[in-house]
Amino acid sequence: MTETAVDTRPVNLILLGPPGAGKGTQARMLEESFGLVQLSTGDLLRGAVAAGTEAGLAAKAVMEKGELVSDEIVLAVLKERLAQPDVAAGTILDGFPRTAGQAAALDALLAERGEQIDAVISLKVQDEAMVERVSGRFTCAGCGEGYHDSFKQPARPGVCDKCGGTEMKRRADDNAETVRTRLQAYHADTAPLIDYYAARGTLTEVDAMAEIGRVRAEMEAIVGKLTAA
Ligand code: AP5
Repeated sequence: MTETAVDTRPVNLILLGPPGAGKGTQARMLEESFGLVQLSTGDLLRGAVAAGTEAGLAAKAVMEKGELVSDEIVLAVLKERLAQPDVAAGTILDGFPRTAGQAAALDALLAERGEQIDAVISLKVQDEAMVERVSGRFTCAGCGEGYHDSFKQPARPGVCDKCGGTEMKRRADDNAETVRTRLQAYHADTAPLIDYYAARGTLTEVDAMAEIGRVRAEMEAIVGKLTAA
């Protein structure tokens, strides 16, 4: 019997977009559909803050102001996460890279692993709509189900539709003033990466003002081509 070589190289995807663009929402859906692992540097940093690690202590005040945490700290938490075995099938980088320095470090990190960036998806949105999206959101402390003051309230006020939990939480940086600072940081430091990846031919833009299901379908079409390749 002749054996056919199967390419099992991991697929690595970057989601670029301002706060509220839907990076986390779509990353979780892509994770579910394709078995890739969502790596959110925001979640990793919030985990470090909650655990009271040295990196977390240094990051806490910076995050609460809506500014960018230093490349050094972000790279340290990311490297630690990439060392875990579950990322073998590939990753969805959500909120990383955010600076030119992080993009260069990511190239080097992936090259060491014999991997590369397969696609960069830029989520295009309008800033003003992001202030409302982000400052109105809250989640169930028990299961993480997401809700919104204007767009998605639980059926019974204060009770999670999914797990019945009654403790809801909001991120410390999800207020209108901090969201505006986060948007400024995005435009100053992260938006230039759109041209960086476009020049490498890896960038696709998606209209992320569209309804969540439509955005999902468009993103799945992009990732589907990579995983089928
Ligand atoms: P991070 O946690 O990465 O936050 P962010 O980039 O500001 O993004 P968000 O999580 O707020 O938004 P999202 O795009 O994931 O949108 P979501 O899907 O939740 O970073 C937080 C902080 O950590 C930074 O400010 C920085 O200090 C630090 N940090 C993190 N990474 C760093 C790095 N690499 N370097 C330096 N510092 C770093 O959606 C938002 C809401 O909108 C939800 O309610 C959702 O249901 C809704 N929604 C989503 N899509 C749609 C849609 N299409 N239509 C209508 N509603 C939608």
